[in-house]
Amino acid sequence: MKRIPMEVLKNKRILLGVTGSIAIYKSLELVRLLRKADAQVKVMMTKSARELVSPLTFETLSQNPVCSELFAPKTEWEVEHISLARWAELFIIAPATANIIGKLAHGIADDALTTIYLAYRGDVFIAPAMNTAMYEKPVVQRNLEQLIQQGVRVIEPELGELACGEEGKGRLVEPAKILEIITTHFSRALSLKGKKVLVTAGPTREFIDDVRFISNPSSGRMGIAIAEEASRRGTEVILVLGPTLIPPPKEPGITVIPVVSAEEMSSAVESHIKSSHIAVFAAAVADYRPVTKSTGKLKKGKDSMELRLEPTPDIALRCSQSKTPEQIFIGFAAEVGDNIPEAQRKLREKKFDLILLNDISLPETGFASQTNKITLIHSDNKIEHWEKMTKKEIATKLMDAIQLLLDKKSKLK
Ligand code: C5P
Repeated sequence: MKRIPMEVLKNKRILLGVTGSIAIYKSLELVRLLRKADAQVKVMMTKSARELVSPLTFETLSQNPVCSELFAPKTEWEVEHISLARWAELFIIAPATANIIGKLAHGIADDALTTIYLAYRGDVFIAPAMNTAMYEKPVVQRNLEQLIQQGVRVIEPELGELACGEEGKGRLVEPAKILEIITTHFSRALSLKGKKVLVTAGPTREFIDDVRFISNPSSGRMGIAIAEEASRRGTEVILVLGPTLIPPPKEPGITVIPVVSAEEMSSAVESHIKSSHIAVFAAAVADYRPVTKSTGKLKKGKDSMELRLEPTPDIALRCSQSKTPEQIFIGFAAEVGDNIPEAQRKLREKKFDLILLNDISLPETGFASQTNKITLIHSDNKIEHWEKMTKKEIATKLMDAIQLLLDKKSKLK
């Protein structure tokens, strides 16, 4: 990522949740840094946080009243946690204890901080801080996993000396690093304004008769995450989505076109491809369909049965035939094994600028999982091996890569 100027944070409305970890002294510094960058900061404290630091300290640093009680006596008619939820452009909890992580993961709302989490619709970051044994406890890891699934971004703690004297993972990330993460987050917002992005996602169904079909377990999660990230960056998104159980995104910038078969997906794509600056082909399109579809329900018999199949349209290949030099096309290659030459072949055949190769034989990668391990291959054969990460994180990194490609293309003009 390029170095981002601090002005990005000017007047940004940041809500900081503070919980009762000894690392709380670092959040005082975080407030100071945010104020120095001209962000507006409001702090919420849990009861145990107040045992460690007086709210007055946070009030003085943030120059705003601290909210800590759900039913605090006040003169205004507004419900404070709801108005704070509406006010904030970003909600960050640092430090986040095992206790708050457990509560948020399970929707418990027994104080102001946990209640606002439920009332808040925007982006949430949490920065855990605790003893290593606590951090590694499976229940804590499961709760973190749950929060990631809910869309929370976790700023992983660092290795180092802990307040308890032990060495290990659990140390709150330094305030300067948290500030950098927040700055990067805001700089990405609206950075692709004016661009149109077409995304295909999910599986397709190719019907044999009225009730049976050929398909695959694709959840559509990867493509949906890409559509959401593209929308966050200010683009107009067309999401052509095959049948999936995951609720489609509701952002106003995303138009969802639900489709069932490869043929339907192809015609939806065809009507938008020309006007799109970026196309991401993340759908797991069925490669074959029955030559004929029977009506009703085929009867079971004793004899073996033959099903004649024909290839479905290769949507990305079709689009590649009219691709303009300004357009950016991204493809996926789900392979058994780390088959880079095969992914490179697909990249060249379909004129992709980038292809994301994932080895579906690895555990917790591919079709229906939350995470993926990607090898990113560029059209100039540059190869990047990414760590295993969530599909949301992959979407963020992919949009960063697309942004760099767009910058390069505009410089070449
Ligand atoms: O050749 P293969 O199916 O592995 O290529 C994968 C890439 O091509 C993916 O990006 C996928 O979305 C796209 N594709 C497509 N239409 C098809 C098959 C694949 O757009 N019928």
